[in-house]
Amino acid sequence: MTNSKDWQTLYINVNLATMTDGSNSYGEITQAALAISNGKIAWLGKESDLPADFSEKDHDVDIIDGKGRWLTPGLIDCHTHLVYGGNRANEFEMRLQGKSYQEIANAGGGIVSTVSATRKASEAELLASALPRLTALHQQGVTTVEIKSGYGLDTVNEIKMLKVAGLLADELPVTIKRTFLGAHALPTEYKDNADGYLDIVCNEMLPQVVKDNLADAVDVFCEGIGFSLEQTKRVFDAARSHNLPIKVHAEQLSNLGASELAANYDALSSDHIEFLDEAGIKAMKKSGMTAVLLPGAFYFLRETQLPPIDLLRKHQVPMAVATDANPGTSPIHNIHLMLNMACTLFKLTPSEALAGITCYGAKALGLTASKGQLAVGYDADIALWNIEQPAELCYQFGVNPLAALYQAGKRVI
Ligand code: NIG
Ligand code: FE
Repeated sequence: MTNSKDWQTLYINVNLATMTDGSNSYGEITQAALAISNGKIAWLGKESDLPADFSEKDHDVDIIDGKGRWLTPGLIDCHTHLVYGGNRANEFEMRLQGKSYQEIANAGGGIVSTVSATRKASEAELLASALPRLTALHQQGVTTVEIKSGYGLDTVNEIKMLKVAGLLADELPVTIKRTFLGAHALPTEYKDNADGYLDIVCNEMLPQVVKDNLADAVDVFCEGIGFSLEQTKRVFDAARSHNLPIKVHAEQLSNLGASELAANYDALSSDHIEFLDEAGIKAMKKSGMTAVLLPGAFYFLRETQLPPIDLLRKHQVPMAVATDANPGTSPIHNIHLMLNMACTLFKLTPSEALAGITCYGAKALGLTASKGQLAVGYDADIALWNIEQPAELCYQFGVNPLAALYQAGKRVI
């Protein structure tokens, strides 16, 4: 335990949702205190158990009365595509006139239409359009965001996207984790040559991304309108050869077995997974993967196939929840709405939903040891909420209950 003389901030008279155990519990500590020192959580527990010397007069600690409100870990959005050019409101209208997401993609719309707009945009323009999206999440209490590439689909533009994602961290106090998603769709110039495109992804883009240290993980969209299982494997092999962790867009519109394949590569997560079956779930459990649920895309595409929540529970696969913020399937930059949708659409309990954007969001990013929990030694990424009970975070949305936000011990809101 750190010496209380080193504490810089001490919250007293607060309740804690520590989220140290995602299994249907908030890890509540009521009438609690929490101390921050050098950007980390230095102490937490019942206020009555505070070490006796903390209140010595010569202390330089900033003591804050939490007035009975709740602290949670800073929120984690572990799956977004929030850097992109243009928007797809026209396709939204087309879908309302009866066209499906797949039909639009097959007719040259969908991801490749965002690719044209993203290629045309300069770094500065992409940064300017991404900033309000990230600002929205930050103001809702998000302290860590994952951002994928995947709308460049050539070396220059994939790198441009990843650079912009990195630059966002200079604009806002948010930790950014970047994922290389070169295998998101086939660019039109490779329309009938998927293998040729994957040569570029594996032998040109990925080595460059690694050399410039632009990504923390590699993702693939394995789907009928994306890449086949065999093609996905090629990208996984390339990621592995560079020691980069793997994530996968899998089982979103059909079941190709990508989650099981990813499990063979000890992937961090499989995301979407509406069509995931029990064999895939067992494989994910065995390799310690996280299931990332994306209720925004489910809602926006008016999907009817629910992800296999009961089976995920049965096999104790951790469930993360994320916005999937993107122009095509989830133009929604609201993590509180995801909490609500995870409960109303997927029937998660409020504590499961909150675990999905704290401890299990961290797990999906390989950050289990430093983020997503209120625990001694963890990063002091902390949100203070104007609520009387944690379930309120899932129950209502539209009124922002965030009262304060800390990133690495520094107050940022
Ligand atoms: O997560 N599924 C593939 N990728 C995105 C959608 C991208 C888009 O339509 O622009 C998703 O849903
Ligand atoms: Fe996605």
